[in-house]
Amino acid sequence: MDDSNLDRFIGRRLRVDVFAATGTPLLSAGTQLERGHLRLLESNKIVLSSKDVTAFFIEEEASIMEAVSDIRHVFQSVTAGRKLPVDYVNERILPKVLDMASRHGRLIDLLQLLQDKDEYTYKHTFAVGVISSIIGKWLGIRGQELIRLAMAASVHDIGKSEIPSELLLKPGRLTEAEFDLMKRHADQGYELLLASGLDERTALVALQHHEREDGTGYPKGLHAGHIHFFSKIVAVADVFHAMTSNRVYKSAMPFYDVLSLMWDGKLGAFHAHILHVFIKQIMELHIGKSVVLNDGVPGKIIYVSSSAPLKPLVDRQGEIIDLSRERELTIREWV
Ligand SMILES: [Fe+2]
Repeated sequence: MDDSNLDRFIGRRLRVDVFAATGTPLLSAGTQLERGHLRLLESNKIVLSSKDVTAFFIEEEASIMEAVSDIRHVFQSVTAGRKLPVDYVNERILPKVLDMASRHGRLIDLLQLLQDKDEYTYKHTFAVGVISSIIGKWLGIRGQELIRLAMAASVHDIGKSEIPSELLLKPGRLTEAEFDLMKRHADQGYELLLASGLDERTALVALQHHEREDGTGYPKGLHAGHIHFFSKIVAVADVFHAMTSNRVYKSAMPFYDVLSLMWDGKLGAFHAHILHVFIKQIMELHIGKSVVLNDGVPGKIIYVSSSAPLKPLVDRQGEIIDLSRERELTIREWV
């Protein structure tokens, strides 16, 4: 390991226990890495990979977790007072959502950080705020419009503050009656946001984020033309984050698998252009990154096409593989 290689791990936390070749424990998971730790690993000829450490530096992680705890506070004060603390959201949560959204290259890292199922509702709220804002930017939304989108996305599930926590945290499938109760968070969010003085458009996102283009969503079963554009953006962010997260009743799915299901229309009918931009841009974030294909051979993503963004061109030591043509080859692992 050279110094520059070492430096990128300093200030991050180990995700795994590390042992010497003899089996002697060297460092335990959770250790915040300092130069001395890295020297110790080096002297034991242990090379860390980025998968072995947390994606964010400790301070970044602290700021994100503070936003999650601020969101918990918002939910709790809504439960107690039935009103959204609008100033608090504007002052404490929105800046963090927008700051994270300005670092869209860290999107997959953010998923990893927020993947733990504890406090899912709050982590999900933050993630959907960030992902929706990133999608908004990718679609060319800027300035006050972007702030409005970030706000609407950051309170999209606020109606869940009125759903009993036993139901929110129930492992396993919901009964039909329970699902009906859960669905009410959309209407409840809409009413609560209007009663808190927020504008119709923001409240509509809470109401419509489970609607789908083909009318199969809820609560009203609206068709495409009746669903607000912001609601369509938040719908994509909502499903993407929910599927890439651990829940009390299921494990997280890898982001690429979720994107593939969304592309194939298996997770509901989303607005085609929003979904296309979202998938293409996420794939473009991985240009230059290493992957392993299902034949076990590693390579590097070099190009993402508009027509088949999930089937990029992969460079395998000079041999260029077009995954849209080599149908039997797929990406098995992201390194
Ligand atoms: Fe929801």
